[in-house]
This record gives sequence, C-alpha cells and structure tokens, in this order.
Amino acid sequence: MEPFMYFNPTKLLFGKGQINRLTKEIKSYGNKVLLVYGGGSVKRNGVYDEVTTLLKQAEIDWVELSGVEPNPRLTTVQKGIALCKEHEVDFVLAVGGGSVIDCTKAIVVGAKTNEAVWDIICRKVRATDGLPYGSIVTIAGTGAELSLNSVITNWEQQDKRAWVSSFSRAKFAIVDPTYTKTVPKRQTVYGVVDTMSHILEHYFHQAENTPIQDQFLESVLRTVIDVTPKLLTDLENETYRETIAYASTIALSDQLNMGFIGDWGTHHIDHALSAFYDIPHGGGMAILFPNWMRYVLNDDTVHRFKQLAIQVLGIEFENKTDQAIAEAGINQLETIWTEWGAPKYLSDYDISTEAIDKIADKTIETVLVCGNYYPLSKEDIVTILEKSM
Ligand code: NZQ
Ligand code: ZN
Repeated sequence: MEPFMYFNPTKLLFGKGQINRLTKEIKSYGNKVLLVYGGGSVKRNGVYDEVTTLLKQAEIDWVELSGVEPNPRLTTVQKGIALCKEHEVDFVLAVGGGSVIDCTKAIVVGAKTNEAVWDIICRKVRATDGLPYGSIVTIAGTGAELSLNSVITNWEQQDKRAWVSSFSRAKFAIVDPTYTKTVPKRQTVYGVVDTMSHILEHYFHQAENTPIQDQFLESVLRTVIDVTPKLLTDLENETYRETIAYASTIALSDQLNMGFIGDWGTHHIDHALSAFYDIPHGGGMAILFPNWMRYVLNDDTVHRFKQLAIQVLGIEFENKTDQAIAEAGINQLETIWTEWGAPKYLSDYDISTEAIDKIADKTIETVLVCGNYYPLSKEDIVTILEKSM
C-alpha cells in the first residue's frame, strides 16, 4: 500500500425514511435554501412534494433552480450562483443524480467568490470558500454524494472538466434507495455500469500488498453482477435497489481505495468525448472500458486481469494461459454489459471515426496524466477510440 489519509466527513443517511432527518440537518447550517433539481423526475415521482412539504413544516424558506441537464452545464451553474447571491442563500440542497449534485458543488464555491467559476473548474483559480450543501440522491451510479469530484460541461467551448475542491464536500447525503425505484431500465443500466467502472478504475493500481482492498472490490463487483439482472426484471424491488444504491455510494466514498490510486484514464476519455457528444456517462463507460482493458493487457499487467477474470467473472482457468484467461474475462465483462442493454460501439451514438482525433486531443489537454496504472499517450487514446467504433 501507499501511505494514505482517509477523511470523508459527509454524514451519510442511508435507507428508507431518512428524509425525516432533512430539516434538522439543514437547520444546523441555515434557513434560506437553494433547491436544485433536474428536468422533472422528482416532480413526477413525488420526491419534490415530500421535500417541499418538510421545508414548509420547518419554516425553511427556499428558492429553486430547476432543469439541471444530464451532463450539467456551466450556464446552469452560473444561474444557480446568481440565485444564491441575489437571495442571500445560506444552504444549497441538491435533489437528483450525479448531474444535480455536481452542479451544486460548482454553485456552492461560485457563490462565495467574485472569480469566474469556470476558472476554478479549470484550476486557474483556487476556491477559497463554499456554501454548505447537502444532497438527496434519486439515482444510483455516480456516487457523487460522497465524492469531492464534480464534472461540468462548458458546451459553448466544447469542454468538460472534472475538478475537486475541499469546499465541494457535502455536509450530508440522504440515500433512500426507494427514491430510485422510478429510474427507467436503460438509465438503471447506465448507473450500474458507472458504479462498476468506478470499482474497476480502483482495481487497476500499481500499489503492492492490497489483499483486503482487492477482496472488497471483487465482492462489490460480484454482488452487482449477481443482483443487476434480477433488478432489471423487477425495477421496483426495494431489496435490489438497496444493494445497488449501497454499491454506488460506497464505490466513490474513498473507503474502497485506501492505500492506492486507481487508473481513471477511461473516465478521462469519456469526459473528453462527452464534451462534444452529449451521451450518458454510463453508456460511454460501457463502450470504452473493455477496449481500454484489451489495449493495456500485456505481460506486465496480465496478472491483474487474470485475478479479475477468475475472482469476479467466473472464468474457468484450467489448461488456459494467463493471457487467454485475461481475454476471456474482458469479453465476459463486455457480454454482461451488453446483455443488460448497454451499448457496445461508439457508432451506437452516431459518433464517427472523424471525431477520434479531437477527442484524443481534448483528453490530453484536460488532464496532466491520462491513467495512473497505465499512462496513455495521445496515440494510445486514438487506438482505444478506434477499437471502440
Ligand atoms: O433530470 P431528471 O428529470 O431528474 O431525470 C434524470 C436524468 O434524465 C433521471 N433520473 C434521476 N433520478 C430519477 C430519474 N428518473 C426517474 N426516477 C428517478 N428517481 O436520470 C437521468 C440521468 O440523471 P443524471 O443525474 O444525469 O445521472 P447520473 O447520476 O448518472 O450523473 C451523470 C453525471 O455525473 C458525472 C457524469 O460525467 C455526468 O455528468 N459523474 C460524476 C461523478 C462524481 N461527481 O463523482 C463521477 C462519475 O464518474 C461521473 O463522471
Ligand atoms: Zn463514472
């Protein structure tokens, strides 16, 4: 293991009915709230009514920012910042998925400065303060509720950036898996693939002696692979939703990656890709991850892929070479995802080979190193994208 610090002070309120603690939590920080949500799912499934009823009962005043896009945009962040300043908001409440939470993370730092928030996101300026915020999660996948990360798209400049700040940490996160029961099948698949891709990013690291962490990661992957097909035929099953929501939250809580830094190169490529093409993050990951795996598989890395294939993907290993076991594991992962309904090719999203060069350039431009386990050059990224077409 590498030496590490673990610090994640977000209060996690997980399980059915935890919403009842909402107003007590908010009142420790303020009484004027910006309520942030997306395109309307929270109104259709009753979560908005539940939240606003509680706010009214507790005499908490609020203003609203609605319409946060999947892949949230800078322009929406700027609207939220303006609302905070105009109404002297002292707490921000995100109700939604990763997009709403990420948008909120940018709003809270932007509301406390006169600097351009995009400069903070691009690491030109440091955030010096942030409004307190909490989140109510309505979809499993990103694990944004316990992570510092936020990903914002500047659509006008065709740029999508992941950034972090110590002020982007939530005060609390309410994860009630029953709120995810209305997530449609396709979106559920994207979320599960995203969660699995976070675990897989962790899994590919260079540190030695991580047997406990390996088994944590493998057991989460095995469980998600077991439960997801059952959930996909029974979308309102609260037990399955609970397991998947817990997997999503734990995956980016920093508890599964103590002592090492995972790869994250595939995430960097997907973020660059969706700066140009507004595709679901989990869909992009389903296409790119198996092709990243095939590309980085070699004599030095084969042991890790072999372990994954045997421990997680149920590959028979007798009378097979390590390479054959590793390849069978990668193929099996891709098959599992496509059988659930995830896309396999970038052309499924009408992305053509002409786009490859600009996506590779954008990836290199936006990160210092593209991959900690296997650093990728522009040429490497081009090849992975070509294989993904
Ligand atoms: O907008 P509404 O109407 O609310 O509908 C949303 C949206 O269309 C819908 N949805 C959410 N909860 C629902 C529901 N529909 C029915 N019932 C519910 N209970 O789902 C759609 C997708 O929502 P979104 O928030 O965009 O999804 P997700 O949570 O996958 O977030 C994706 C964003 O997170 C970023 C991605 O890049 C992308 O921008 N990521 C953030 C990370 C982080 N902060 O740590 C890590 C991830 O790797 C990822 O990059
Ligand atoms: Zn992700």
